Amino acid sequence: MTDLHCHILPGIDDGAQDVEASVALLKMEMEQGVDKVVFTPHFNCDEMPLEEFLRRRQKAYDKLMAALPSRIKNNMEFKLGAEVYFSPTLSSIDLAPLCISGTSYILIELPFVNAIKPTFLSDVLYDISSKGITPIIAHVERYPYILSDPTQIYHWVTAGYVIQVNAKTICQGDRMVKNLVEWGLVQIIASDAHSPKKRPVLLKEAYGHLRPDMAKYIKQSCVDVFDNYEIDVLEPHRPKKVMGRWK
Ligand SMILES: [Fe+2]
Repeated sequence: MTDLHCHILPGIDDGAQDVEASVALLKMEMEQGVDKVVFTPHFNCDEMPLEEFLRRRQKAYDKLMAALPSRIKNNMEFKLGAEVYFSPTLSSIDLAPLCISGTSYILIELPFVNAIKPTFLSDVLYDISSKGITPIIAHVERYPYILSDPTQIYHWVTAGYVIQVNAKTICQGDRMVKNLVEWGLVQIIASDAHSPKKRPVLLKEAYGHLRPDMAKYIKQSCVDVFDNYEIDVLEPHRPKKVMGRWK
């Protein structure tokens, strides 16, 4: 399995605070059958210069690699990435170093606390994709202004953007997320793991909740992103509101 979104690098964001927590999380990944991991610490271009983020990310990566037991190091493949917070200025910065390394995929997080739909969202996503970079929308289930009209997700999928949901939400049996998966509107499941106890890796459990053919499809999409292939997109269903419920 492949985990494309996690906060396992030590001491760089609100994820693993030290190397011990990072190693514990990677052990969880390995025990669940994950062999490819992308480290995606938070980055906000309005709060930190890109160069500083890249320096800090490399330092945290080097620190983790130096402390990693060989059992993990020899059995897993790692890449660097970032969970890039949406900003109207995003398309004006150099996004290449923020893409999953060696790929043209970038993980983008939208505001979700007391949030309204960001101004220029569509324009910025379009600008990014017109540079040949494919946005992966992180944990789409967190944005009330998107879930209130899931046809927006349908349009993203038809525009070639990639939709990610968190393993935890699948495990919780969230109805809308279940629908999104069934409608062919989800290509990626990721752990978004932050800590061994509070926000652990739940990928194996999450895949166990899916139909075997859907689990197989999503696992393959994750590998394809990691390896920088174009992912297969299922024929998406355009949601319609019937008697107050999205179907
Ligand atoms: Fe995250």
